[in-house]
Amino acid sequence: MELKLFFGNSASMKELEDDSIHLVVTSPPYFNSPFDYPDLFNSYDEFLNLITQVADEIKRVLCQGRIATLVVDDILINGLKYPIVADMTRIFIDAGFKYRERITWVKPEGYIRISRRSGVLLQHPYPMYYYPDNLQESILIFQNGTFNYKSISTDIRSKSELDLDEFNKGKWYLSVWNITNVLPLKNRLEKGIAAFPEEIPYRLVKLYSYHGETVLDPFMGSGTTLKVALDLKRNAIGYEIDLELKKIIEEKLELNQIKQEAKSIINKQVIIREDTKYLRTELQNHVKKSEGRNGQG
Ligand SMILES: C[S@@+](CC[C@H](N)C(=O)[O-])C[C@H]1O[C@@H](n2cnc3c(N)ncnc32)[C@H](O)[C@@H]1O
Repeated sequence: MELKLFFGNSASMKELEDDSIHLVVTSPPYFNSPFDYPDLFNSYDEFLNLITQVADEIKRVLCQGRIATLVVDDILINGLKYPIVADMTRIFIDAGFKYRERITWVKPEGYIRISRRSGVLLQHPYPMYYYPDNLQESILIFQNGTFNYKSISTDIRSKSELDLDEFNKGKWYLSVWNITNVLPLKNRLEKGIAAFPEEIPYRLVKLYSYHGETVLDPFMGSGTTLKVALDLKRNAIGYEIDLELKKIIEEKLELNQIKQEAKSIINKQVIIREDTKYLRTELQNHVKKSEGRNGQG
């Protein structure tokens, strides 16, 4: 199996050949989310421009008929809601993808990471003070043309067969997925990364790729997609702009149990490009400062 980690801007994935990827599972940065990415982008247009470039690159590298999945949500910054889900859908359609599906990921009510906006109504129980607490994100699913089911050998089909018990028990058949988010435990690996839980790439990799194929994450973060892809015997490729995450990614992949047993068959490559950046410390300091200002720190 192959594992490739690229540190650099995924607006260009020039290292990857055309039609070389079978599935994309990713979660782009949440624009300038106050909790993780304050002021990462100079403007919303700059953010949309990055997504447009990445969408074009995904279109180029994805094989015919294959799937790109994006975990995204609209975001509220200083009282203004940015329509990220709608804008990303339009960008991917314009890049030539077929819009195939939108799954809603629902997190448990017990833990809400954002501030409880609904408190406004408790203080002012009158019309027009309603701001609900957000428990959901969208999993957008795009397809690169038509898939040829006959292109897969019988052997690979049988190695990739889904477990119907798991499918039924986990209610994978619904367009709403109830999955616990990564909890903010002390000393967790993913602090300040906005990582998604393993269950999300686990379902997507199983549902949309075959054994031995190649999964790409252009916004790697802590490397959750890559870890799961390797666990499920797929090749894994990731891009991440922030070199400060290299250690965390490598730690997460070391946790990968099959890594030990399969060390000899994993061909690992790490490429650090000139356009990589050092972001985390700066972003986290920024978050702490604004939390202090808001009296939440
Ligand atoms: C929402 S996080 C991904 C989290 C990941 N799914 C996980 O489970 O850890 C988005 C990541 O994209 C990275 N990023 C932002 N801009 C980028 C760019 N232009 N190229 C590559 N990575 C970028 C951020 O540093 C961040 O780590």
